[in-house]
Amino acid sequence: MPQKVAGLPEHVAVIMDGNGRWARKRGMPRPAGHRAGVKSVRATVQHAARLGIRQLTLFAFSSENWKRPAEEIGVLMSLFREVLQREVAELHKNRVRLQFIGERERLGPRLRTAIEAAEGHTADNDGLQLVVAVAYGGRWDITNAARKLAQKARDGELDPETIDEQSLADGLQLAGMSDPDLLIRTGGERRVSNFLLWNLAYAEIVFSDVLWPDFRESDFDAAVDYFTGRQRRFGHTPEQLEAAKC
Ligand code: FPP
Repeated sequence: MPQKVAGLPEHVAVIMDGNGRWARKRGMPRPAGHRAGVKSVRATVQHAARLGIRQLTLFAFSSENWKRPAEEIGVLMSLFREVLQREVAELHKNRVRLQFIGERERLGPRLRTAIEAAEGHTADNDGLQLVVAVAYGGRWDITNAARKLAQKARDGELDPETIDEQSLADGLQLAGMSDPDLLIRTGGERRVSNFLLWNLAYAEIVFSDVLWPDFRESDFDAAVDYFTGRQRRFGHTPEQLEAAKC
């Protein structure tokens, strides 16, 4: 019997995949899958908060998703704004703190205004921290952090010899937040797709075949159960971990 060693994950990240296939299976246009996916977002946020998870980071739109047809991008951007405006009061009531990561300069002004309003409104909440990645890419994030360090070095504010992992991490979008303990990807694909490349270094990963609009509380529980059964060694041997317990 494997020892149950990991507690509840503090930070869960989710790649919500499978909306398009969910719609096509039903003879519906792809955007109908994104609309259906909102229900799974709501259920997952409520469930994570109920379980006492501290942070939930959702991948809603990647840097690569800009390559999609303009019509689908338009539907997604309107949907983000619509969901934000509709849900923010309920999120606030439940003490959820909402934040966005990604290249927000690429978003339209109305969506950016809605994001800033939602972030401002929920900034002091002490419940679940909900981070939504929109126009986000892991390589963009790391490049951005490297650029900040290079600019400081150029301006004489930083000695390149002193740069360590923490200095780079401090320039990332999730600066000051813990790394995800658990990554869940729905929709059957088994890859990370440029999500949080730096921060996922030690995440446990669950690939679920369930399409995102069908993802339910029990699927989230199954992923958390898998996580709690893992022994997280962070490079140590099992014997070292046993000895540290004594
Ligand atoms: C991936 O499925 C999903 C997306 C690109 C969009 C996710 C967006 C939502 C669930 C809408 C609401 C979200 C928030 C946080 C307000 P896909 O289109 O790649 O599916 P496929 O692999 O079947 O084509």
